[in-house]
Amino acid sequence: MTLYIAAPFGNYLKSEVARSVTGSFTLERRTGLLKRIATTLRYRDGAWYNAIGLRNPGIEYGLQSYSRIDNDVLSLAAIEPGDWKRFSEIVPYDIDVELNLSCPNIEHFENYTQGIDKFLNDERKVIAKLSPHTTKNALDDLIQMGFRSFHFCNTLPTDNGGKSGKDLIPYVEKLIRYFNELITYKHNLPAYHFEIIAGGGITSIENILSYQNLGANSYSLGTICFNPIKYLKLIRSYRNSFYVLDNEPVD
Ligand SMILES: Cc1cc2nc3c(=O)[nH]c(=O)nc-3n(C[C@H](O)[C@H](O)[C@H](O)COP(=O)(O)O)c2cc1C
Repeated sequence: MTLYIAAPFGNYLKSEVARSVTGSFTLERRTGLLKRIATTLRYRDGAWYNAIGLRNPGIEYGLQSYSRIDNDVLSLAAIEPGDWKRFSEIVPYDIDVELNLSCPNIEHFENYTQGIDKFLNDERKVIAKLSPHTTKNALDDLIQMGFRSFHFCNTLPTDNGGKSGKDLIPYVEKLIRYFNELITYKHNLPAYHFEIIAGGGITSIENILSYQNLGANSYSLGTICFNPIKYLKLIRSYRNSFYVLDNEPVD
């Protein structure tokens, strides 16, 4: 079981009980982050909306700031065909990566996932971060390609940008259900072969337990990171509920 701090919050937050996901990084830097935050990041009716559109300093910076000691995960996003191949050539083979296949604020080129299999090897974890609208067939394609780590899910596309928070919960639940059906009835594989990261609307340990009951075995924190009091409370409960048990010395 792993707790992740989702991109881009993992760029700024570290915790001894969680892994920070840094990024998302594109091949080239994309300027205008502050302007996009000022003009698109909004809190409305209990949900955060953003249309930041992957403004970031680029993969070269991402690799320089990547911390092996902290066990970071590097989040990557392709903008043009050929980007996944190029990323797979420049990111060291043993750095764990999350492939952001689902940013709602960029246009996805045709066959967006072409080339992502190049990341798969025995030395690293490769997480596929998916959209709330991912179909069962698309999920099945990734399982067949050899993906073993899935992050359900990214923000919900809306006219005001990607929406985070509680509205994602039914989508995450649906994707976990699709996943369970696929591995049980089609692939005949046990769930422990896979990492299912549930992320969307987590603000309490109860949300984590509820996702766990459905079959998730890892969890990801997003916009709760905007609220330091709630974030620290959840980290404390997580440490008390799971982390000590997992890390207790075995006699
Ligand atoms: C301002 C903002 C920027 C985000 N940028 C990224 C990003 O660069 N890469 C990514 O994979 N997800 C990004 N996300 C999505 C979050 O990682 C997370 O998946 C989403 O907020 C849902 O989780 P939550 O309901 O716990 O917030 C962003 C979310 C917000 C609010």
